[in-house]
Amino acid sequence: MPQKIVAGNWKMNLCLDEGVDLIRSIEASSLPSDVKVMVFPPALFVDAAKKTSSSKCLVGVQNFNAAEKGAFTGEVSIKQVKSAGASIGLIGHSERRELFNETNAILKDKVDAAIENNFQFIFCCGEPLEVREAGTEIEFVRNQLEESLFHLASDQMRDGIIAYEPIWAIGTGRTASSEQAEDMHREIRAMLSEKYTNDIAESISILYGGSCKSANAKELFACPNVNGGLIGGAALDATSFCAIIDSF
Ligand code: PGA
Repeated sequence: MPQKIVAGNWKMNLCLDEGVDLIRSIEASSLPSDVKVMVFPPALFVDAAKKTSSSKCLVGVQNFNAAEKGAFTGEVSIKQVKSAGASIGLIGHSERRELFNETNAILKDKVDAAIENNFQFIFCCGEPLEVREAGTEIEFVRNQLEESLFHLASDQMRDGIIAYEPIWAIGTGRTASSEQAEDMHREIRAMLSEKYTNDIAESISILYGGSCKSANAKELFACPNVNGGLIGGAALDATSFCAIIDSF
C-alpha cells in the first residue's frame, strides 16, 4: 500500500516566526499516526523548521538546483539543503515550470540530481486549463512523466512520490472533482505499471494538489488512487492543515 501523505507547500508565504509557530502547532496536534506529514518552507527556513519539528513532520524544500555547486547566484544545491535538514524536495511544481521556465529537460536533471544525492522527491505534474478543455490531459501528463521521470530505473523509482496538480485548480478555489482526480491518478498508476512493474505502481504515493482544503479533502482522499495531498493555501494555517490531515 502507498504511504498516506499530506504535504504543505508554503510557497513564498510566512516569515520565520510564523513558520516556526505553524510547525509547533502541527507538532502539538494529535494526528493520525499512519499519515506522513511534510512541510515545504522557503529554503531559508529549513534549518529552523528542522530544529522545531520532530520525526512527526518531515521538512523539505520547494526547489533546488541540479548542479552540485558553483557560480549559480541565488540558487541552492541538494547538498546545501540537506546540510540544513531537508530530506525531500519538490520537483516541477507548475509555478516553477510557468514562472521560472523550468522545462522537462531541466526537471529531468533535477530528478537525476535527487537520485545521485539520495534525496527523496515529489515530482509534480498537471495540465493547464486549455489542455483540460481540449480533452488531452492524459497525454499531456504522460509526456511530462516520460520526459522527466520515466528514464529512472525501477530501483530508483521505488521511493519517488508523484503529485498530480491540475494548474486550473491551483490557488483558484476550483478543485478537481474527486472523479477527475481519481481518473487521472488511476491513469498515472497505470503508466507506472506499464513502465515499471505492478508492484512499483502499487507502492508509489500519488498526491492530489489544487485547492484541496478541509471541506473537500475527505472526498478526495477516499478515492482509491489518491494517497494524500500537496496543499498550498490551506497549509498556511495549523487548524486547516491539521483538519486536512485528519480527513484520512
Ligand atoms: P493550493 O496550491 O492548495 O493553494 O491550490 C497547491 C499547490 O500549488 O501545491
